[in-house]
Amino acid sequence: MAALQDFVIAPGGRLAGRIRVPGDKSICHRALLLGALAEGETHITNFLESSDCLATRAALQELGVEIERDEPGTVTVQGLGLSGLRPPVRVLDCGNSGTSIRLLTGLLAGQPFESVLTGDAALRRRPMLRVIEPLTRMGAVINSTLGFAPLAVRGQRPLKSLRHEMSLASAQVKSSLLLAGLQAQGETWIKELATTRDHTERMLPSFGGTVLHDDGWLGICGGKKLRAADITVPGDLSSAAFFMIGAAMQPGAHIILEGVGVNPSRNGVLRLLRAMGADIRLLHEHMLGNEPVADVEVRGGELRGVDIGPEMVSLAIDELPVLLIAAASAHGVSTLRGATELRVKESDRLQAMAVGLGILGVEVELWDDGMRVTGCDSFRGGDVDSFGDHRIAMAFAMASLRAHSPIRIRDCQIVDTSFPGFAGVARSVGLQIEVRETPQP
Ligand code: S3P
Repeated sequence: MAALQDFVIAPGGRLAGRIRVPGDKSICHRALLLGALAEGETHITNFLESSDCLATRAALQELGVEIERDEPGTVTVQGLGLSGLRPPVRVLDCGNSGTSIRLLTGLLAGQPFESVLTGDAALRRRPMLRVIEPLTRMGAVINSTLGFAPLAVRGQRPLKSLRHEMSLASAQVKSSLLLAGLQAQGETWIKELATTRDHTERMLPSFGGTVLHDDGWLGICGGKKLRAADITVPGDLSSAAFFMIGAAMQPGAHIILEGVGVNPSRNGVLRLLRAMGADIRLLHEHMLGNEPVADVEVRGGELRGVDIGPEMVSLAIDELPVLLIAAASAHGVSTLRGATELRVKESDRLQAMAVGLGILGVEVELWDDGMRVTGCDSFRGGDVDSFGDHRIAMAFAMASLRAHSPIRIRDCQIVDTSFPGFAGVARSVGLQIEVRETPQP
């Protein structure tokens, strides 16, 4: 059995240097899925070989799609078109990946066969009714256990079109419905509750898809063939955020993160760090395909507390854990409100952060939808649990930059879901991080 990995990080590290973080996870999932539904050969460059993206790749292979790894970070997808997928023989295992299961469910809703999707214990605890309910209205039959995976999806061709007003902010739900909408009769329209990452909408035109906008509604034309595309994936802002925040909260630190996606529908971390007084510059801003990209330069200093309101939550959803580390090191009090979605991520991230910050000696008041954090000069060391959540593990790794004793973070092998090689990259810019293997109990 694989060993468990802990991160042990000594105090005294200082972030300095220039790095490139791996490719964007959200964009890689979408490039694979649209490549599979397109006709012809799609090439993806700077593909993220993390376990989440590999789960989507394996599921598509099980559906008959040939996907070759040409060299590290480059894959070719032999698209089968909207009606070329074959019924899977095996259960589609999405591992820890919410994006895989929710987007694949949308794709499979339009395929006239039965598929079963599941995942690890954490994924099987995450809510799926948010996709089951609208996809059922489009004509798919989806069986679940009280709204949780495993999901048995019996697709329908063609699906009925839908006009759906979302009751929660979720790019996964939106994208799942867009993938179904591609396979529906006529136009499917979605209204978001709040802005969420728009990578699917931005990528679809490259594949020949038609995306419509009308008075706050987002539309997709069904039944239209997609053609293969070449997609170059920007660096993942969510992975860059750990280093941006590590540097921003450490006077004297200076880091440049090259080629990072800075899409405004998910750049809340940049806006919030600036509101905290961080010195952040975007250099060489340019477009990569339809995605804005820049080199992000951060110089460390003293941060001040911030109020993160509900309107910022979907724009920084994956960066909120590490933003709470920044808040804990800032002058004054910070608050986070309207973030109940954090309770249904890879872990209950509000709970996980409150517990970990408490262990490091930070004063925290946990609320149902957020928390209040009182900043302090330096953290205690101690043993912190990742709760099996990659972003919790990496957030607490950065806390060591303001700690006066070592921090040990338990159960960090899960970091591979989004950022394989994180410890090596972190070490290369000055984090005193060691990976310790412990045998499985
Ligand atoms: C993602 C959307 C977000 C985000 C997740 C990736 C995506 O999830 O937290 O890491 O790729 O669409 P929700 O849609 O559940 O907010």
